[in-house]
Amino acid sequence: MQCEEFFDQLWRDYIRVTPQAERIHQLFIDRGEVIVNDHVALRTFDLAPINIASLEPLLLQLGYARFQPYQFNDKYLDAWSYLHRDETQPRIFFSELKIAFLSPKAQSLIQAMVAQVPVAVTRSHDIFFAGRPWPMPSWADYECLLAESEYAAWLSVMGLRANHFTISVNHLDVPSMAVVIDLLQHQGFELNREQGVIKGSPQTLLEQASTLADSITLPFRDGDSHPVKTCYYEFARRYPDETGFLYQGFVPANANAIFHSTDRG
Ligand code: NI
Repeated sequence: MQCEEFFDQLWRDYIRVTPQAERIHQLFIDRGEVIVNDHVALRTFDLAPINIASLEPLLLQLGYARFQPYQFNDKYLDAWSYLHRDETQPRIFFSELKIAFLSPKAQSLIQAMVAQVPVAVTRSHDIFFAGRPWPMPSWADYECLLAESEYAAWLSVMGLRANHFTISVNHLDVPSMAVVIDLLQHQGFELNREQGVIKGSPQTLLEQASTLADSITLPFRDGDSHPVKTCYYEFARRYPDETGFLYQGFVPANANAIFHSTDRG
């Protein structure tokens, strides 16, 4: 699979559950902008065959290389960022939940889900956009996961799809995060306010902001339907580092705040 097709499939799957993303995308298109993706974020559990180590070869096949590791100890997450040799392709931010830090009950729920993943799908890029690869959990199991990890609960119902796409503010006509935020607020989009609307600063070389995730109502395994958080849209502006080149990394403090975009609230 080529990158263009990979991101096209990811995007189509993402907007199916994130209608706000298509509206925001169109808002910028209507203003004459050409949208460039700064990065796309993927989430998974640290259990084979869907842990980062198992799925990373799929990213390498697309032409990506590992860039930097990150740790979010309070959320039990490890992550890697990946850069493509073609700089016009988005960065990829891939995180995994270290399930050993959860209770035995939550661990066994997750192990039972992952045991149902068809191994064949994990050998194809489809794993990232073919939908949740295990049956829908019961509401009680979802609540059990939610009590320990918003991330685990999100993954249990959403599967491994793109968690968010990110508009590169650097590539907008007016490359200003404040202008983007003003526009979104005027259009009525709700923003993540954890640690302030703009996470980071020119001094940390990366400014980020995001909307709050959309909600959809899904039928749980026991028959009840409940609204759950789906995905959100992010905005990033990068600054040159002391070498004069645009900063390519991620700032853990920013990412830590952005993760809250899918909180149930
Ligand atoms: Ni992000």
